[in-house]
Amino acid sequence: MAVAMTPKICCVNSTVGLLQTRRPNSSDWTTWRQSCLRSVSSLKFQTSFTASPLTVSMAATLPPKAERLISGIYVQSERHKQMTHSILPEKLELIKSLDAWAGENVLPYLKPVEKCWQPQDQLPEPSSDGFYDEVKELRARAANLPDDYLVVLVGDMITEEALPTYQSMLNTFDGTNDETGASPTPWGVWTRAWTAEENRHGDLLNKYLYLTGRVNMKAVEKTIQYLIGSGMEPQTENNPYLGFVYTSFQERATFISHGNTARHAKEFGDAKLATICGLIAADEKRHENAYCKIVEKLFEVDPDGAMLAFGDMMRKKIAMPAHLMYDGVDRNLFTNFSMVAQRTGTYTAKDYADILEHLVNRWNVQKVEGLSPEGRRAQEFVCTLAPRVRKLEERAQLKPKRAPKTGTVSWIFDREVQMW
Ligand SMILES: [Fe+2]
Ligand SMILES: [Fe+2]
Repeated sequence: MAVAMTPKICCVNSTVGLLQTRRPNSSDWTTWRQSCLRSVSSLKFQTSFTASPLTVSMAATLPPKAERLISGIYVQSERHKQMTHSILPEKLELIKSLDAWAGENVLPYLKPVEKCWQPQDQLPEPSSDGFYDEVKELRARAANLPDDYLVVLVGDMITEEALPTYQSMLNTFDGTNDETGASPTPWGVWTRAWTAEENRHGDLLNKYLYLTGRVNMKAVEKTIQYLIGSGMEPQTENNPYLGFVYTSFQERATFISHGNTARHAKEFGDAKLATICGLIAADEKRHENAYCKIVEKLFEVDPDGAMLAFGDMMRKKIAMPAHLMYDGVDRNLFTNFSMVAQRTGTYTAKDYADILEHLVNRWNVQKVEGLSPEGRRAQEFVCTLAPRVRKLEERAQLKPKRAPKTGTVSWIFDREVQMW
């Protein structure tokens, strides 16, 4: 979910895997990391934005064209290997020392199950005599939703439905993972309860879209299966510093996206769907606050480490969780979905810059002191990035408009929609 200026961001060859095992304890994380990166002869590490082509969308880190597909499932090639377990032992100890703090400060962001809305609260009641009438009303309301709106809503729903991938991702973070599957640590509790809250999002959107009769559910279900099979590549390196920067950004991005689908549903006359998207957006906001609180704490106890992590994730750009999306037909499905989201104003390059700026302000990044030279460079980078992204977007707007491009999408029975 980002700005698709330089889609291929970090290709590290498999030598990194060997380098990792020789990580020196004495070196700090950045020095070690940079020396690893420098040592890789065929390294292609793109850290700066380039202006062309400025097709601004969520398609930040798409899989390379040379990806291998096994039965349609994306499999990372050797060439595309990423760094893993990059956290240094002392940082890991610091993370582990935050257990009690997480219990007191992160878990309160969860909502007790009995106080949570459930999908059924928003759907026709199947045991009631009025079920068929309620479904009829739902379908009448949804009849006016335009195809491009449906494409974006389905894309959002599919993203939510790939939740197993996100729980797996959280459990890749060293020091905060749920080690047993039922770990009593605050981090373990958070991950499971966060997943349980998130599970309602895909569930509700899926059932609602099914009842509308407007979308090709089999194509949607295939996309979900492909996506969960493919996973995601957030480039968080098993490192909770990077991971919680990623989740802070991502939860805000979904808050914005669901907020916009709510607003658009209202404009198209489906007030019920607006309520549904609004409820989901509110959850995302609460989750964003929790993840931001964690990074805020990291800035407090380890300002340099937190700054380097923030800078690193922003250099790599925040990839949308569903960037490996595929429906068995369209290899550009995610790009097309992102284009429609951009064109309809659901999630745009401006949103990307706004989120970044929001996080810079939220963590008071400009005022952080006591940084190493690398930390100061990261600070400078993140503090000046949002205006640079905006400037690039403005420049793109000034360019002659490209001829509109249309394409078919399997989710809406191969009807044509305008991509841009
Ligand atoms: Fe969600
Ligand atoms: Fe979320």
